[in-house]
Amino acid sequence: QRPAPCALVIFGASGDLTARKLMPALYNLACNGGLPEAYTITGAARTDLSTDQFRTRMREAMSTQDNFDTALWDQIESRLFYQQLDYDESQGFGALKTMLDNQREEFSTRDNRIFYLATPPTVYEAIATRLGQVGLTHEKASSFARIVVEKPFGRDLPSARHLDITLDAHFAEHQIFRIDHYLAKETIQNILMFRFANSIFEPVWNRQYIEYVTCASSEQLGVEHRAGYYEQAGVLRDMFQNHMMQILALVAAEPPSLFAADRVRDEKSKVYRSLRPFAPERLRDDLILGQYGPGTMNGKAVLGYRQEPDVAPNSKTPTFAMMRVWVDNWRWQGVPFHIMSGKRLREKITRIVVQFREVPHSMFRDVLGQDIAGNRLVMDIHPENSISLTFQTKAPGAKPCLSPVTMSFDFATGSGEGLDAYEKVLLDCMLGDQMLFWRQDSVELCWGFLTPILELCEECGDVREHLHPYSAGSWGPPPALEMVNTLF
Ligand code: BG6
Repeated sequence: QRPAPCALVIFGASGDLTARKLMPALYNLACNGGLPEAYTITGAARTDLSTDQFRTRMREAMSTQDNFDTALWDQIESRLFYQQLDYDESQGFGALKTMLDNQREEFSTRDNRIFYLATPPTVYEAIATRLGQVGLTHEKASSFARIVVEKPFGRDLPSARHLDITLDAHFAEHQIFRIDHYLAKETIQNILMFRFANSIFEPVWNRQYIEYVTCASSEQLGVEHRAGYYEQAGVLRDMFQNHMMQILALVAAEPPSLFAADRVRDEKSKVYRSLRPFAPERLRDDLILGQYGPGTMNGKAVLGYRQEPDVAPNSKTPTFAMMRVWVDNWRWQGVPFHIMSGKRLREKITRIVVQFREVPHSMFRDVLGQDIAGNRLVMDIHPENSISLTFQTKAPGAKPCLSPVTMSFDFATGSGEGLDAYEKVLLDCMLGDQMLFWRQDSVELCWGFLTPILELCEECGDVREHLHPYSAGSWGPPPALEMVNTLF
C-alpha cells in the first residue's frame, strides 16, 4: 500500500538522528517505492541554514550509504527544504506554514502533514503549541496532521500526564504517534503472529504449563556520549518504561479480536493494568539494580560508569536492572516474568525465554535416574532473529537415555527482507497505522507501575543499599546471576 501524498517536517533536523537514521530510512523507502508519489521533506531547526546548505549536508551524509544512487538522490533532493526557526517564537512557524502551503501547490502534497520531533523532549511542548497557534494541527475530512514523538514520554506519571495534556491541547490521540523502535523490529512484531496464528502454542501459554518467562535486552555499549540524559534516566526509564514493557505485553496479552491497532493496544493496556504493584518489602527480592564498574569488553579495558565523561563521580544511576514482575490475572497467576536490561554486559542479546514446566510425572525417572528438563521456547531478537524449541528425545544407544534437542527457525532463511525500524515507523505513520505506537493509556499505566518503584529507589535513599556494582564485561551484579542464567 502506497501512502497518500504528504509533507514531512522534521524538527531538530540539524541533529544527529536526522542524518544517521531518518534520512537513510526515507532514502531506503524511496528505493523500494515506499514513499508517496507526491511528497516533500522539510528540515526545521534552530541552526541557521539555507535549503541549499541543508541539501549539501544531507547529500554528504547519505553519500556514504552502500546503496547511494545519485539519480535517486537528485530526485529526493529536489523535494528537500529547510526552515530555520526558534521553537519559542511563532514567526518561524508562520514561515513554515507558508512554505508548506507553497509545497502543496507545487508538489501536490495536499494538506497532509507529518511533524516528526527529532528534538529533546524539553521542546515538545513549545513545538506543539506553536504548530497549534499557526493552524498547522487542524485536520479536514480529506487531510491529516500527525505528530511523531520519541521517548522519553515524561520521567514519571505526573510529567507524562503533563506532556499528554500539552499534546492533547493541539492534537487528538489518533494524531499522536509515540515511537518505540522495539515494536518496529520484525521479530518483535512476530510475537503476536507466532502466538495467534498457530493453534499449538496458545493452549499451553499459561500458568499451567509455563514456569517462568525471561525477557532480556543486554548491551555491550556503555553510556557513550549520552551521560546528560542517562544520568537523569537510568536503566528503568531508558529501557523498562518502554521497550521491556512492550515485550512483556506482547508475550502476556490475551488474543485481540482483530489485528487492528486499538484492539491490540487494548489488550496491552489490560496487561499493564494487571501488573502487581511493587510493595516496599518486595524491593529486595524482586528488584536488583546494578551499576557497571571498570572492566574488560572484548579484550579492551573500559571505564566504569562513574568514570565516564559527564557522569557524577558518586552517581547512583542504575545501568542494570533485573525485575521480577507478576501479572495478576487468570492466565498468569504465579508465573514470574524476569525482565532484565543492562549496559556494558558481556554480550548484546535481546531474547525472550519461555520455560515450560517439567512433565507432571516422569515415568523414566527410575530407569534414567535423571530429572527431565521442561521444554523451552526461545525467541531471539538480537543478534539472531530466530525461534527455537527444545524438547527431549531418546539418545541413540542400547541404554535408555534422554537427550535434549533443539528445533530452530532462523528468520534469515525466511522469505522477504524486513524493513529497518525507522523505515517501518515512518511508513506506518504515513499510512496512519498506530499499531506499533504507544497509546497514552498504556504510557500512563506503565508509569503508574514504575513511578512508585523509582520513588522507592530514589527518594528513600535506598539506592545506595540496592545498587550493586558489576564489572563491565560481566553478566551483571552477582545477586542477579541466578535470574540472568535463566536466559541460557
Ligand atoms: C534506546 C535506549 O531506546 O534503546 C538506549 O535509549 C539503548 O540506551 C537502545 O542502547 C537499545 O536499542 P537496540 O535496538 O540496540 O537494542
